[in-house]
Amino acid sequence: MTAQLLEVDGLGKRFGGFVALDGVDLSIAPGERVGLIGPNGSGKSTLVNCLCGTLANETGSVRFDGRDLSGLVAHQRTRLGMARSFQLPRPFPSMTVGDNLRIPLLYAVNARPGAAHLSVAETRERCAELLGLVGLAGRVHDYPRDLTQVDMRKLELARAMASDPKLLIADEAMAGLSHSEVSDIVALLVRLNERGITVILIEHIMRAVMSFSQRLVVLVSGKKIADGRPDEVIRDAEVERAYLGQ
Ligand SMILES: Nc1ncnc2c1ncn2[C@@H]1O[C@H](COP(=O)(O)OP(=O)(O)OP(=O)(O)O)[C@@H](O)[C@H]1O
Ligand SMILES: [Mg+2]
Repeated sequence: MTAQLLEVDGLGKRFGGFVALDGVDLSIAPGERVGLIGPNGSGKSTLVNCLCGTLANETGSVRFDGRDLSGLVAHQRTRLGMARSFQLPRPFPSMTVGDNLRIPLLYAVNARPGAAHLSVAETRERCAELLGLVGLAGRVHDYPRDLTQVDMRKLELARAMASDPKLLIADEAMAGLSHSEVSDIVALLVRLNERGITVILIEHIMRAVMSFSQRLVVLVSGKKIADGRPDEVIRDAEVERAYLGQ
């Protein structure tokens, strides 16, 4: 068996008396494209928050790239190569698009142990490269308020990509977008995956999930109820019940 990039074992998280995650196990191999779906409130974002260190899980463990992440806070996990985009984009509104990328370049890439620091010119080059990659070439001096919703999503993905991740977790990067904009973001995520980045896509838009995912994981009420080939998972009786029962 090949070494897994991400190994989640028995992850549990409560909010007071409410069990948000209930013993979730999940393994992801390097280079995989995995879709994570589940009804509203099923614990998807909570899982992301626990993986990335924004929330502390009470039970279970997370191994990433061969390392136990217990006790590591969010920025340390980012430096190890775990990046996420937020369900609601979170750019720094008073900074230009370029500066929004320089922050993660400075704090994630330059601060990585043993990494060669990027010079000013290299940082500028890397910014331009990232903007080109996501389809925002030429927008470096614009402000987030100048961007359309789809371009804002692209900036959010570029910000995550700036930390040069091994794993990118995209939490609902397409909500509210038009049909063609959704296709645009799916194509972008596939391009990132083709560059060797493992991607977890959290999404309610099934067309996007089905075209993107090589594997589908389903969370319901904080429990993983299915994990396998997308065409098989969506025909699973328990998965159907979870969705139709809503
Ligand atoms: N910080 C918090 N404090 C208390 N309850 C929370 C907190 N964060 C999430 N929850 C609750 O935990 C449950 C899971 O929320 P979560 O955001 O993980 O769901 P989700 O699967 O991402 O849903 P959606 O598809 O709507 O984004 C919900 O019932 C939510 O209200
Ligand atoms: Mg969510």
